[in-house]
Amino acid sequence: MKRTLLFLLLSTALFAQAYTKKHRVEDMQIMAKAMSQIETGFFYNNKDLVEMGVISLSDAIRRIEPPLEEKEEKDPMTRYMNEKVKFTNKIVKKIDQKARTILERFSDGDMAQAVQAYTKIMKSCMECHTQVRHW
Ligand code: HEC
Repeated sequence: MKRTLLFLLLSTALFAQAYTKKHRVEDMQIMAKAMSQIETGFFYNNKDLVEMGVISLSDAIRRIEPPLEEKEEKDPMTRYMNEKVKFTNKIVKKIDQKARTILERFSDGDMAQAVQAYTKIMKSCMECHTQVRHW
């Protein structure tokens, strides 16, 4: 009985850890929605919208992971050649930081800087899409 329970707990833990393509696509859609929310917030000068968008963007970007095969790749040369893990972590961190900048600058009334941070995020999204979208 105890063993079954342990097994069940273990399998849900394992299941929860696997970040699949399906999860990634869902998070991507959340981020696309968050970006347009932020943009609408800019146009209407609506802080609540900007804030909601930033929170949902940060929340989703922190979940983004490179493909599992990549993380589990044992051959150092293959890992080196692919570099997707490092690339992902770097870009994820950048988007997360810029999202915070948007909110800070917008709150300060510095629209130009807020929009610039938004544009930088947009560029990062595209940078990753051109490099690793074929995952
Ligand atoms: C680290 C890489 C990476 C970053 C950063 C990234 N994407 Fe993606 N995106 C992908 C990959 C890879 C796919 C294709 C899905 C897959 O194969 O896993 C994708 C697909 C998408 C899709 C299509 C989802 C669908 O329904 O098929 C949208 C929309 C999207 N991304 C939006 C964004 C937005 C908005 C950002 C920036 C805030 C962003 N992405 C940043 C890698 C990235």
